[in-house]
Formats: sequence, C-alpha cells, structure tokens
Amino acid sequence: MAKRSTTGGDEQTASSNGAAAAVLRAPAEVLFAREIEAIIAADKFEKPPGWRMSPRAVLTYITGGSVGDTRITPKYIGHQRLVEIAISTLVTDRALLLIGEPGTAKSWLSEHLAAAINGDSGKVVQGTAGTTEENVRYTWNYAMLIARGPSPEALIPSPILRAMESGSLARFEEITRCASEVQDAMISILSEKTISIPELKSEVPAKRGFSVIATANTRDKGVNDMSAALKRRFNIIVLPTPKTIESEIEIVSKRVRDLATNLDLKAKVPTADAIEKVVTIFRELRTGQTLDGKAKLKTPSGVLSTAEAISVLANSMALAGNFGSGDVSPLDLASAIQGSVVKDEEKDRVVWQEYLSNVLKKRGAEWRPLYAACSEQND
Ligand SMILES: Nc1ncnc2c1ncn2[C@@H]1O[C@H](COP(=O)(O)OP(=O)(O)OP(=O)(O)O)[C@@H](O)[C@H]1O
Ligand SMILES: [Mg+2]
Repeated sequence: MAKRSTTGGDEQTASSNGAAAAVLRAPAEVLFAREIEAIIAADKFEKPPGWRMSPRAVLTYITGGSVGDTRITPKYIGHQRLVEIAISTLVTDRALLLIGEPGTAKSWLSEHLAAAINGDSGKVVQGTAGTTEENVRYTWNYAMLIARGPSPEALIPSPILRAMESGSLARFEEITRCASEVQDAMISILSEKTISIPELKSEVPAKRGFSVIATANTRDKGVNDMSAALKRRFNIIVLPTPKTIESEIEIVSKRVRDLATNLDLKAKVPTADAIEKVVTIFRELRTGQTLDGKAKLKTPSGVLSTAEAISVLANSMALAGNFGSGDVSPLDLASAIQGSVVKDEEKDRVVWQEYLSNVLKKRGAEWRPLYAACSEQND
C-alpha cells in the first residue's frame, strides 16, 4: 500500500539514527527525528488542533534554518510562499492537492509536511488503476467476519479512516490514477468529514486535525481527469520545475550528497562541474532549447526531471564506486545519462545524437570528454 519512491535524509541525522540505518528507505520522521524534536522543543507559537508544531515551525522544518544550535536542513527548495500556502491550507478544512510535472517533489513535500505536523507520514493510499473504494474507506478481516459477523474488531480501517479517527493527515498519492468511483468516494469523505459503516450501524466522524494531502502528476492528467466536484474540495498548488539553473543545481547537489551517504555509494560525489553539465543537458532537452535560447532542440520522450538528474548522478557514482576508481568519470556519467535520455530505442537515440553533434560537440574543450563518452555510448 504505502509505496515509497525516493530516498531522503541528511548525513548527521541518518548516521546518528540506528533505526534509519537498517532500512533502505526510512520515513522522514525517523530520518529527521532530531530536527523535529529540536523544533518542537523551541516552538513558542500556538499549535492547531492535532498538530505537533505550529505552522511557523513547520515552515522552518520544510525550508530550513536553525533553532538553538540545531541546523535545520532545507527539505523543499523553491518558493517559500508556496510552502506557506500549503501549510495554511492544512489549517483550514480544505484538503491540499499538489500537482506538477513528474519529479517536482510533490510526494517529497507531502511526506515532509505529514512528518512535521503529525510525526507520521505513513498513512498513505497509493493511487493506481487497481485502487478500490475499500482502499479509501475500510475493509474486513474476512475470517473474523464470517466467524463472528461484523464487529469493530473485524474492521480494517483504511489509512484515511485511521487519520480521521486520530485527527491527523492522510496522504493520497497519484489520485488521478484512480478510477472515478474511487475519486467520488473521496468527495463524500472530504465534504461530510465522516465515513459511515452501515454494517456496524455507525459513523466515524473526523477529529479536528484531519486533512488529506493528495498528489497528482500533470503528465497523467488524461488517465482519469479529476471531476470539478473533487477539485473544488482541494486547494490546488502547482509545484514548478526549478526556474533557474542555479536553483536546480542546488537541489541536485544537495540530494546527491544525501543519497551518497544514505546508500553508501563508495564513490566521491561528482564535482560541481559535472553536476552543472548534467543539469544543463537535462534543462536544455526538457525545454527544447539551449540555455542561451539560440538553438531549438527536439525533446526526447522520457521525463527529464530534476529527480531524474539526481538519479543519473547517483547511478554514475554507483558505477564509479563499484567498477571504477571511485572518481566519477565522463564514461560513468555518459552511461547513466544514456539510460535516462534514451527510453525509446528508435526515436530518442536520434534526438540524443542530434543534440550531441549539434550542441555538445560545438561547446569546446571543456565539454569534449563528456561529449566523446556520450557519443560512444550512443553508438
Ligand atoms: N524543489 C525541490 N526541492 C527539494 N528537492 C527536490 C525539489 N525538486 C525535486 N526534488 C527531489 O526530487 C526527488 C523526487 O521527488 P518526488 O518523488 O517527490 O517527485 P514527484 O513530484 O512526486 O514525482 P512523481 O510525479 O513522479 O510522483 C526527491 O528526492 C526530491 O528531493
Ligand atoms: Mg510522487
């Protein structure tokens, strides 16, 4: 049910936490337990019902800063205003919907919001074509149901029902992937703020503090478009792709450093220059033009998101650490980029080749080693 798609963490918090070290992907509230505790201890502002910290403190947790002598690492890098709107939405009775291109940190932000507000980011419904209304409401332990009939003990609440009972946040990932009847079930939950259980002749009203953070990917818009009725129950925030190359480099560098420690990649973090080159390539192919705007480019079929750039750099480190010298070489970068840019054998290979010969080749000596390695890989 709760699919975790990314890795996260910070050197000091991850290594100082035994529980986090053993699992591949510890939740944010475990990885950042120290930061959260420090923020709660120093928080002087009023907390909304059911919240562990005040809205201002949540903002500090998400955008970074310091409390006392604890440094709070920035989790979401981007417009502070967007984060402020997201947090204030959760104080009202409207649910929050984060939408945007793939890899714009929708799930990441949603997880960190839940971790800061409730200390529990694990109440997640993962939206898929196979998600049923039961996944959103409740289901039964059938053995017990048959043996004893419907009883509260036989009821298995969904993450949303558990959030209503405890007055906390539930997360709904990729809501537009769900069939429309599942989305309809959400409408009644979000407007009535209760789930009725006819079998037990009872109703579970949502405690104060209950809300939902949903995410949806704009690329999947066509799969099951959200009805106007459902949209109306959400405050919608669009998470943009990073505006400037500098901000994208900052995000990528930070996340690559985190990943290197968490996954113990045994290689040196790629140089600032290598990171800048990868981000440049990704931005140019994503926007369909060179950074200076002088040449138009064809775009490959895959999604060249910030998240993808992060994973290219992590993959190149894994190659360098396990099969190379430990220093990320142009060939390591090229191999990782190849897999990420060329998703469709036929078309993308041509687009990539055109970019290599028309753009990278002409960029001079500094780009030569990467150009040569990429061309070799694309042969
Ligand atoms: N603005 C940003 N600030 C901090 N991290 C970012 C930012 N943009 C992307 N990332 C990083 O990108 C990675 C991917 O983010 P995430 O999985 O949340 O994307 P998503 O928007 O949910 O994508 P999808 O639509 O594919 O589910 C995360 O590791 C996150 O740290
Ligand atoms: Mg996501």
